Amino acid sequence: MSQAPVIEVNSLTKTYRTYKKKPGLSGALRGLFHREYEELSAAKDVSFKVEEGEFVGFLGPNGAGKTTTLKMLAGLLYPTTGTARVLGYTPWQRKDGYRRQFSLLLGQKNQLWWDLPARESLDLNGKIYGLEPVAMQKRVDELSELLLVRDKLNVMVRELSLGERMKMELIAALLHDPKVLFLDEPTIGLDVVSQKIVRDFLKAHNHKRRTTILLTSHYMADIQELCQRVIIIDKGTIFFDGKLAEVLDRFADSKMVTIHTPPETVVDPAWVSPFGEVIEQSSGVIKIKVPRDKVSAACKALLDNLPVSDIDIQEVPIEDIIRRLFSESRT
Ligand SMILES: Nc1ncnc2c1ncn2[C@@H]1O[C@H](COP(=O)(O)OP(=O)(O)OP(=O)(O)O)[C@@H](O)[C@H]1O
Ligand SMILES: [Mg+2]
Repeated sequence: MSQAPVIEVNSLTKTYRTYKKKPGLSGALRGLFHREYEELSAAKDVSFKVEEGEFVGFLGPNGAGKTTTLKMLAGLLYPTTGTARVLGYTPWQRKDGYRRQFSLLLGQKNQLWWDLPARESLDLNGKIYGLEPVAMQKRVDELSELLLVRDKLNVMVRELSLGERMKMELIAALLHDPKVLFLDEPTIGLDVVSQKIVRDFLKAHNHKRRTTILLTSHYMADIQELCQRVIIIDKGTIFFDGKLAEVLDRFADSKMVTIHTPPETVVDPAWVSPFGEVIEQSSGVIKIKVPRDKVSAACKALLDNLPVSDIDIQEVPIEDIIRRLFSESRT
């Protein structure tokens, strides 16, 4: 018998109803009697399943509905319609059994007590979960060691740097060893070194504990390094769910062809341009963005007509594709 998915979301929809205030005093007065509301569907008919141990990237431009969806899965928001089961629980019923098995980390929000040293703030978190003090201390030591912030445990949370604080937030989220992790931009604003520390940590954690993780990040390096599968959402609707590599197949319409010639070779730009968009042409190097279906013909023509010493064909960076997808979806 195959196991039930850890996360199962069916037609989840969240419509925010906001009061539309008319400008000026008369508008405010009129609003007292005739309130006009605006409806915005932050998540529309969202459905997906995640199996145990999967590390899924949840991508989408600003305002796409990622945080809204994660908040519903963490039971912080009630959906307007639809269902979700996480570890067999309906999140918004807020059962204690569920609370003990998942964590939501909101990178944009501070969840630790600001006016306490990090260790005490973490202790309080542990107490909320009823964790045994000695075991918890051990866990804090172990996690802070791995995240390289053990020497910061005595610093007040408000005095920690952004990266240090985020690492403490991550420790807080992991104290009770949750089976499911919702990570909403856990690397936001971190420098590249801290980003990598957090990434490596998450990768190892997912491997070792088979934790099921749903991660949002605007940094493609996070997604590329951690997630084999991505769910892409925009305007509340999922428009792609599959392997990250398939994003290239599906949405990358061109490849990058670079040829190397002896430096003295003179190549007429007008001869090169029909193959595709010329990205670079300097002494000895020509780089062209060639439509996918024209790559072999272009390579043959280049090889036949130029003294090519080396040729290199590469996918366009996934970052460029995502950026293009998002900017297209905005228009
Ligand atoms: N409490 C709220 N009331 C009304 N509208 C809201 C509320 N929270 C979010 N929204 C709207 O819902 C939409 C989705 O927001 P959400 O925070 O889920 O986006 P996101 O994908 O997490 O974006 P980002 O990448 O910027 O974090 C946005 O248009 C946002 O303005
Ligand atoms: Mg968000």
